Amino acid sequence: MCGIIGIIRQSGNVTSDMVAALQRLEYRGYDSAGLSVLNADGQIERRRTSGKVSALLDLTTKHPLSGPVGIAHTRWATHGKPVEQNAHPHTSASVSVVHNGIIENYMALKQTLIAAGHRFDSETDSEVIVHLLEEALRQGHTPSQAMAWAVPQFHGAFAIVAVFAGDPHHLYAAVKGSPLVVGLGEGEGYLASDALAFAPYATRAIYLQDGDLAILSAGHVSITDDTGTPVTRPIVILPPSVAALDRGPYRHFMAKEMDEQPIVTASTLRSFWDPVHETVIMEDAPPRPRRVDIMACGTSYFAGMVGQTWLERAGIPTQVHIASEFRYRPYFADSDTLSLFISQSGETADTLAALKYVHGQGGRSLAIVNVAGSSLHRLAHHTLLTKAGPEIGVASTKAFTTQLMTLAALSLFWQGGGHAEETGELVSIPGHLRHVLNVTAPYHDLAHGIFRHAQSALFIGRGPSYAVALEGALKLKELSYIHAEALAAGELKHGSIALVDEHLPVVALAPTDALFEKTASNIEEIAARQGQLIILTDRQGAPRLQRFAHTLITLPETTPLSMPLIYTLPLQLLAYHVALARGTDIDQPRNLAKSVTVE
Ligand code: M6R
Repeated sequence: MCGIIGIIRQSGNVTSDMVAALQRLEYRGYDSAGLSVLNADGQIERRRTSGKVSALLDLTTKHPLSGPVGIAHTRWATHGKPVEQNAHPHTSASVSVVHNGIIENYMALKQTLIAAGHRFDSETDSEVIVHLLEEALRQGHTPSQAMAWAVPQFHGAFAIVAVFAGDPHHLYAAVKGSPLVVGLGEGEGYLASDALAFAPYATRAIYLQDGDLAILSAGHVSITDDTGTPVTRPIVILPPSVAALDRGPYRHFMAKEMDEQPIVTASTLRSFWDPVHETVIMEDAPPRPRRVDIMACGTSYFAGMVGQTWLERAGIPTQVHIASEFRYRPYFADSDTLSLFISQSGETADTLAALKYVHGQGGRSLAIVNVAGSSLHRLAHHTLLTKAGPEIGVASTKAFTTQLMTLAALSLFWQGGGHAEETGELVSIPGHLRHVLNVTAPYHDLAHGIFRHAQSALFIGRGPSYAVALEGALKLKELSYIHAEALAAGELKHGSIALVDEHLPVVALAPTDALFEKTASNIEEIAARQGQLIILTDRQGAPRLQRFAHTLITLPETTPLSMPLIYTLPLQLLAYHVALARGTDIDQPRNLAKSVTVE
C-alpha cells in the first residue's frame, strides 16, 4: 500500500506537481500524506498531515515550500496510527525518506540504532530507514554508499525513495517486493509507485526490479542490481491513460466506472476476438491445460470462483484458492496443472507471493491482469490483459466484469474457440449491461427504504450466483459499512437462517437456470420467516417469485455465460445507492486502499 512520488528537475518548484501526483496515487492509501523538498540551500523542508491528500494541499497552500527536487507519500497505515507523527516522509537533519512496504526486522534495527544514540519520533517501521542512512553518513559514507550499505540490512518488502541534504542533483531509490517505476522526461525524472503518478509529464518508463538500487538525476538514471553490478533495464512507452482519471460529469469515480462496463467488457472481448471466424482467439494464452488452480484476493477471488464454474463446464477440473491462504500451504506442482492468477492491479502482495511460490516449485502461470506493466504482468509466464482502463474507485466494478469477460472467453478458447451460440452470448452481454444500468429507481428506493437503517444483510445464490452474491455482499460492506454476508442458498438452513426476521434484507439471486427451483424453495423458507426479500430474477422466474418479494428486480434472460456479469450490476448499483443515502465516502471507503501491497 502507500503511494510514492519523487520528482527531480533542473529548476522550478515541484511541490504542486507532487501533490497532484499523490492525488492520482490516492487509490493506494489515504490516511495521511506528506512531502519534502530540497530548498534553494539544498536543505530539507517538510510538510505532513493526517487525512487525505487534499489536507496536504491545504497545508502547502497555507505554508508553501519550494525546490526543484522532492519526495512525497500518501499512506495506508500498517505500523502506527494514521496521525501526522507517523506520516511520511521521515526525516533527519541529512536524509528524508518515503517508503512503501514493511521492514520486518525494524524492531531489531531500531534497538541497535537507539543504542547508538538515534532518537525516534514515530511508531513506524519506516523510520529505521532514515536512521540507518543517517548512521551510514555519520560513518563517512556518501549518499550512494549509504544506500548500498543500509538497504541490504532491511528484511521484508520495500520501495524506498530518499533525498539527502546538500545533494540536490539526485534522488535515491531501492526496491524489493514493492513496485517502483522510473519516469524519464525531458531533463527531468520521476520515481513512483505507479506510472499513473507521472503520466502527464513522462511517457518513457523503467520498472525497477527486486534488488535494484537506482540513482536518478534530471533526465538520467543509473541502476545496479542486487550484486552491485550496473544494469540496463528496458524502457517501456506508456499508453495514454490520463483521460481516464477525469470524473467527467459523474459524482463519483465508481458511478463513472459502473457506467463504463458495457464499453470495457466489449473492448475486452474484442481483444480476444477473431472477426473472420467469429470465435475467441487468445494468442497470449497457453494451450488447454489438464487442470487449473486459480489464485486471487477479494473481488478477483470471486471472479475466480465464477471462472471455476465455466472451466469445469469446459471439462477442466479447477480449484480456486485465496492467495493469502494458498501461499502458506504445502503445494505440489505437477506439469498438468496451470496456475491462473487474477488481479486488477497486478500488485497485490499475496497474489504475487502465490505466483512466486508456484514458480519456485516449477509451476507454470497465466495471469489475468488489468494494469499493463504491473509486477504480475511482468512475472507471469503468460498474461491476458483486461481492458477496464484505470479503475480509481476503491471498490472494484469494471475490473470485476472485465475479469469475468476474460474468464468466459478463456473457457471458450480452451474449448476450441466456442460455437456460434456461445460466442453470440458473449457478444450480447455489453448490450444487456447497458439495459441494466439504465434502471436505477429500485436501488434508490431500497437505499432510502429498508437499507436506510439496516444493520445487516444477507445475499444468497447457488453455483455461479453464489460467487456473485459474495461480490454483492463485499460491495455493500465496503461502501456502506453495513455488515453483509453471502451464503450458498442451500446452506442457509444449516444455521444462518436464525438471523432472518422482519428487519433483515435478504438479496436473492434467482436466475432461471438449472438450480432455479432449489433457490425458489430457499426463498420461500426466508419468506416464511418474514425476511425482506430483494429478488433478482428474469421474466420467466418473476411470476413464480413475485409474491415473496419486498422488491423484485427483473433482469434480462441469461445463460450460464452471461448470468454472472448481468447479475453483478444490480448489486453494484444497490451498494452505490445505499452508500449515497448513508453519506459514506464512496470512492475512498474508510480503512481501505485500492492496491493491497502488504500482506
Ligand atoms: O488488484 P487486485 O484485484 O489483486 O485486488 C484484490 C482485492 O484487494 C480487490 O479485488 C478488492 O477486494 C476490491 N477492490 C474490493 O472492491
